[in-house]
Amino acid sequence: MDINVPRTPPRKSATFDDYTLAEIRRAATTGIYDIRGAGTKRKVPHFDDLLFLGASISRYPLEGYREKCGTDVVLGTRFAKKPIELKIPITIAGMSFGSLSAQAKEALGRGASMAGTSTTTGDGGMTPEERGQSKHLVYQYLPSRYGMNPDDLRKADAIEVVVGQGAKPGGGGMLLGQKISDRVAQMRCLPKGIDQRSACRHPDWTGPDDLEIKIHELREITSWEKPIYVKVGGTRPYYDVALAVKAGADVVVLDGMQGGTAATQDVFIEHVGIPTLACMRPAVKALQDLGMHRKVQLIVSGGIRSGADVAKALALGADAVAIGTAALVALGDNDPAHEEEYRALGTTAGAYDDWHEGRDPAGITTQDPVLAARLDPVKAGRRLSNYLKVMTLEAQTVARACGKSHLHNLEPEDLCALTVEAAAMAQVPLAGTSWIPGKGGY
Ligand SMILES: Cc1cc2nc3c(=O)[nH]c(=O)nc-3n(C[C@H](O)[C@H](O)[C@H](O)COP(=O)(O)O)c2cc1C
Repeated sequence: MDINVPRTPPRKSATFDDYTLAEIRRAATTGIYDIRGAGTKRKVPHFDDLLFLGASISRYPLEGYREKCGTDVVLGTRFAKKPIELKIPITIAGMSFGSLSAQAKEALGRGASMAGTSTTTGDGGMTPEERGQSKHLVYQYLPSRYGMNPDDLRKADAIEVVVGQGAKPGGGGMLLGQKISDRVAQMRCLPKGIDQRSACRHPDWTGPDDLEIKIHELREITSWEKPIYVKVGGTRPYYDVALAVKAGADVVVLDGMQGGTAATQDVFIEHVGIPTLACMRPAVKALQDLGMHRKVQLIVSGGIRSGADVAKALALGADAVAIGTAALVALGDNDPAHEEEYRALGTTAGAYDDWHEGRDPAGITTQDPVLAARLDPVKAGRRLSNYLKVMTLEAQTVARACGKSHLHNLEPEDLCALTVEAAAMAQVPLAGTSWIPGKGGY
């Protein structure tokens, strides 16, 4: 061969890219599947693919400095004697004590209370610190029943029956031994230091009728006072929302595939469930078909980061959103200030997702007493409250530009889509056209 003939540059495979090759080598070396925290890392259709159509001649905007734009929301108006009244439609999602330090749980409670919203317990029960600092505390009732007790149910302001999560619909939780400290073990009635898996389904259910019985039991235990939420991961939202409503839920929480987790197999996070955006229209359609839209409230989560995301979720028909990952970042997680320590863990601040290992330099996803003590719950709570305030202001700015005097007046008509996929999923027109792909479906 003539070596003077110009050679084409080496070409890497799009299918076998560097990450895939490294993962095959890692699997071949260890024989263990990859476990990690956080949500899906691949790009899927999202709220970024939608845009607001601000007012112009055909619509009338509101003035930001003198015309109000309401943000309050009431959750649990269907059956509960004491619905939850929040100042803003952004709630803090359920994250377990065990996955998070006690300091982080307390900070979430403080931040949420300052901002006038609710926070939620998680697998493993309620800590006195988070109850003490949370004005509105939602108590999760999970398949594992770890840390569950009727006294805490009665101490809560609402109950969330967890059927599934967006990061792992159909799967259960994981808490590795490193994070099972004396306190976590005692609350969960588990041995210290041993890896633990939570159940993927409730031990006493075989189908939707059992959910109805369970909700009834929970109402009896709490004297019909507390709103009962049902949380599902996004897979078949039309049917799951309809069944949750039929079973008697006051509120449905729908968590899309971008939803974060403390620890799950990577294959689960990346390959099971549907994007949050794709969950929206089927869920709202189910509520509308049952005549229950706005009567049973819909909380949406999974990848919510900004006031724009909040406003888009509300425009598509949600009553409120929940945030997990973004709240942890606001507290101080994955902060480049700890870059040297992240590097020592073989990662970098923006990519750190080994939350299951309990070595978080920010003191948030850890049970190590020295690391956890780094997080000041008062300061971190203030950061979360600031962030919630900014998100709310952003959502109001967009809503006013669309001429809306309350965030709940936003509607699909205020939106268009940047891609055909997003237009089809959200059932809003492709930008610059009046075309909604597949109109007539969900
Ligand atoms: C650290 C961590 C712990 C979590 N623990 C629980 C849990 O105990 N129960 C639950 O239902 N969901 C749990 N989740 C999922 C959240 O409730 C929520 O569905 C998800 O974080 C929302 O997506 P986002 O993180 O993109 O905001 C957890 C999420 C994270 C990040």
